[in-house]
Amino acid sequence: MDFSSTLQNIFPRSEDIPEEYRLPGQVHQREYLSNGEMKAWDGQVHEVFSPICTQSENGLERVLIGSYPVCGENEAQESLAAAVAAYNNGRGEWPIMGVAERIHCVEQFTGKMIEQKDIIVKLIMWEIGKSFADSVKEFDRTVEYIYATIDSLKNLDRDSSGFDIVDGIAAQVRRSPLGVVLCMGPFNYPLNETFTTLIPALIMGNTILFKPPKFGTLLHYPLQEAFRDCFPKGVVNIIYGRGNTIVPGLMQSGKINVLTLIGSSKVANELKKQHPKVNRLRAVLGLDAKNAAIITAHADIKLAVKETLMGSLSFNGQRCTALKIVWVHKSIADEFLQQFTAAVAELKYGMPWKKGVSLTPLPEPNKIDYLNTCITDAQAHGAKVVNENGGTSAGSFFYPAVVYPVNKDMKLYHEEQFGPIVPVVPFDDLEETIEYLIEATHGQQVSIFSDNANEVAALIDPLVNQVSRVNINSQCQRGPDVFPFTGRKDSAEGTLSVADAIRSFSIRSLVAFKMNDTNKTLINDIVHQDTSNFLSTKFIF
Ligand code: G3H
Repeated sequence: MDFSSTLQNIFPRSEDIPEEYRLPGQVHQREYLSNGEMKAWDGQVHEVFSPICTQSENGLERVLIGSYPVCGENEAQESLAAAVAAYNNGRGEWPIMGVAERIHCVEQFTGKMIEQKDIIVKLIMWEIGKSFADSVKEFDRTVEYIYATIDSLKNLDRDSSGFDIVDGIAAQVRRSPLGVVLCMGPFNYPLNETFTTLIPALIMGNTILFKPPKFGTLLHYPLQEAFRDCFPKGVVNIIYGRGNTIVPGLMQSGKINVLTLIGSSKVANELKKQHPKVNRLRAVLGLDAKNAAIITAHADIKLAVKETLMGSLSFNGQRCTALKIVWVHKSIADEFLQQFTAAVAELKYGMPWKKGVSLTPLPEPNKIDYLNTCITDAQAHGAKVVNENGGTSAGSFFYPAVVYPVNKDMKLYHEEQFGPIVPVVPFDDLEETIEYLIEATHGQQVSIFSDNANEVAALIDPLVNQVSRVNINSQCQRGPDVFPFTGRKDSAEGTLSVADAIRSFSIRSLVAFKMNDTNKTLINDIVHQDTSNFLSTKFIF
């Protein structure tokens, strides 16, 4: 049997899908949360086909798992009006509410979210093809992130509950919300990355317009009633529809105060330009990345193989932090490639519920064509696929291709492939790798593999000024989530981490007064009578 037929056979017949991984039924969403209500929708819908295919008389067919509303501009504008009204120029119930009460609402929401874990995890798996184990991890990591955010906000509030006195002026400095936040997440971490912006934005007192990602949409449906029940009306609104139809009007309204998007720099730039007063718009963005691994002549090859394998191919290379280009010193290139291709061959592939699976079907319908274009282009410029069966595909599955030797004339040298291709570039002099990073449009992270301290030190200093995280003898990654996650150039704007995110979605405001007897009495009255939520010495335990 040729390998393409082997790949065809990884897809099950419908009746062979294990019972415990099936969805309880198709999810046909005909309502959406806006202005505190689940609004009924009887207009156009988008049918959701899973990347998981089944065998049929017509060959492999993507499984229909449900559908969701394709609303238009009117519905988006109504939701915007609801978010604006709920914010009410900072006078709404939510932005005025004390921090402890806001935290309580988020805790209640998290409890209800946990009740929906089973269906959300299954929808992550069915909508984007992420392995069941990783889908569970994504859910759990998100819940941990929410609790860590709550702890971080409590600490921030504790630190802000006193007064600073300088030059006879006393001040209480706290953080206030910014207004209406338009939040858009990516398909690869449709729950986690969305919530790492949505939850900090929400808990800081902003009101939200949330547009779910193109793939990974239905999984947000089971959370809408929890949002409705745990927050005041209009604080969280979920908008559906084609991004290019509904989002420009939202930006042009000038009523969006924060744009937070995990996606492409091209889209982010286009959207920012639509805002009539860019100075009033804060952007918190996670964008393009093409993280490089640099494997020097002094690297521990076995370790470099292990880390590069996970770095480049976990979740089929569909991580913003994935290693998307691998530089290897010529003296060890053959040895590295031999070990690396052997390790690729050991990776388990198949359906997302298969135990220990690393490689699964891809959600984007045109992705395989694009990946094939990258390989053809590399071959035309002198590279080869060097691993057995590399680049073979069937249905929505693409077997990883290790491409060597890659050079600057190839798409794979410049473009973020965001999929299971590992471009490998041989080099003689480390200066070539530094030059690559200087010229690159991306600047998120890099991984250096070497056991030579002088060599590593000589790379660290130039590279920390090109990217935002230099990983030593380990793959690139976002976590732990308390570490700052950002990037330079076209890779990010603003910083996300548990502690940084709550700062990104708020601004410092202070109440200041001259220390005279009248003011001291006045301020003490306010604090003792507990008449202000902002000016307060209450301590959250
Ligand atoms: O896609 C980008 C994610 O934030 C990556 O997170 O490095 O933990 O997989 P990760």
